[in-house]
Amino acid sequence: MILVTGGAGYIGTHTCVELLNAGYAVTVFDNFCNSNPESLKRVERITGKKLQWIRGDCRNRDELIAALKQSGASAVIHFAGLKAVGESVEHPLWYYDNNVIGTLRLLEAMQECGVRILVFSSSATVYGDPHRLPLAEDHPLSPTSPYGRSKLMIEEILRDVQHSDQSFQMGILRYFNPVGAHPSGLIGEDPQGIPNNLMPFVAQVAVGRREALNVWGNDYPTPDGTGVRDYIHVVDLALGHLKALEALQAAQRAQTSPFSGCLTVNLGTGRGYSVLDVVNAYEQACGRPIPYQVAPRRPGDIACFYADPQQAKTLIGWQANLDLNAMCASSWHWQSTNPNGYHT
Ligand code: NAD
Ligand code: WQD
Repeated sequence: MILVTGGAGYIGTHTCVELLNAGYAVTVFDNFCNSNPESLKRVERITGKKLQWIRGDCRNRDELIAALKQSGASAVIHFAGLKAVGESVEHPLWYYDNNVIGTLRLLEAMQECGVRILVFSSSATVYGDPHRLPLAEDHPLSPTSPYGRSKLMIEEILRDVQHSDQSFQMGILRYFNPVGAHPSGLIGEDPQGIPNNLMPFVAQVAVGRREALNVWGNDYPTPDGTGVRDYIHVVDLALGHLKALEALQAAQRAQTSPFSGCLTVNLGTGRGYSVLDVVNAYEQACGRPIPYQVAPRRPGDIACFYADPQQAKTLIGWQANLDLNAMCASSWHWQSTNPNGYHT
C-alpha cells in the first residue's frame, strides 16, 4: 500500500494511475485546497480499480498517523504542497507553513509508524540561475523564490533525517516543467484562476477561455529570443515515481544505502524548447491559431533552463519517452473535452 499525499492534484492523479496499473494499492491523503475529489473518480475510471482517499492536512500529525495506520502503507509519495512562485513572494509564510511544516509533520508520523520509504516532489527551481547547462544534480543550489527555498529546506531536512537514520530510503525528484495530460483525456491540469504556467495558459487560449497569450519577452539570448525550458510529459514524470519507488524498495530489501544518502535525480528530457516552439506545436495539436502578443519580460525569469537527465537513467533506469507533440496533443485532448476542468 502506498500513501500518496496530494494525490488528487495534477501530478498526483497521473502517478496514482500508474501505481494502480502496476498493481499497487493506493491511499490518497489530500486536503483538496487545490484539487477536487472528482479527479480521483476519474483515476478509478481510467484504471478500473478502486483507491482509498482520506481528507486530511499534512500539517496535522495525528491525521497523518491515522492515515498511515489505517492504510497500512509501506511507503509515501509526497506531492502535497503549494506551488505558485508569485504567490510565494506575496505570502512566504503560507509556503514555509504548508510545504516545510507539512513535510516535518509527515516525517514525524512516518517515524512514529515505522514507515521508512519516502519519495519527495522537489523542483528544478532549487538550482536557481544556471551557472552551466545542462543542469546536473551537483549544480549549486540557490533558489530565487520562497517557493524554491521551501523545496530546498525540505531537501536539507530529508538529507539530515536520512543521515541520522540510515534505515530511511528517500528519493528527491527534481522536476523540470511538467505538462500534458493522460491520453484518456479524463485527467489533466486544472489550474484555479488565471494560469501562471505556459502550457495551461496556451490551452485556455486554444479553447477560447482567454483571448491571447502574453509571451513574456523575446529579447533573451536564445535562438528565437523567447525563454527555453525542459518540458516533460506528466505521464513520463509519473513513471519516474514508480522507478524511484522500486529502487528505494529494492534498497530497503537489501538493507543497503546505495545512493550515499538520498536518491536525488532530475526528471527532465534534456531538451529545451522555446515559448514559440510550444505555441507552434500547440497550434499543430489543436488545429487552430494561438493568438499571442509579445510583452515585457516576467520578473525573475531565466533565459534558458534544461536538465542533464543522465543520473535518473543510471540510478533508477528512467528516461523520458514522450515528445513535445505528445505533450501538446494530450493537453489539448484534456482541455477540449473538459473546457472548464473538473467543473465541466
Ligand atoms: P497540485 O496543486 O495540482 O497538487 C498538490 C495537491 O496537494 C493538491 O491536490 C492539494 O489539494 C494538495 N495539498 C496542498 N497542501 C496540502 C496539505 N497541507 N495537506 C494535504 N494536501 C495538500 O500540484 P502539482 O502540480 O500536482 O504538484 C505536486 C507537487 O510537485 C508539489 O509539491 C509541487 O511543488 C511539485 N512540483 C510541481 C511542479 C509543476 O510545475 N506542477 C514542478 C515542480 C515540482
Ligand atoms: C515557461 C516559459 C515564461 C507563461 C515554473 C516554476 C517552477 C516549476 C515549473 C514548480 C517562460 C513563458 C509563461 C505565459 C509566457 N514549478 N511564459 N507566457 O517559469 O519555467 O517554471 O513552473 O516547481 O518552479 O517557476 O514555467 O510555464 O511559468 O514558463 O511567455 O503566460 O513560458 O516566461 O519562459 P517556469 P512557466
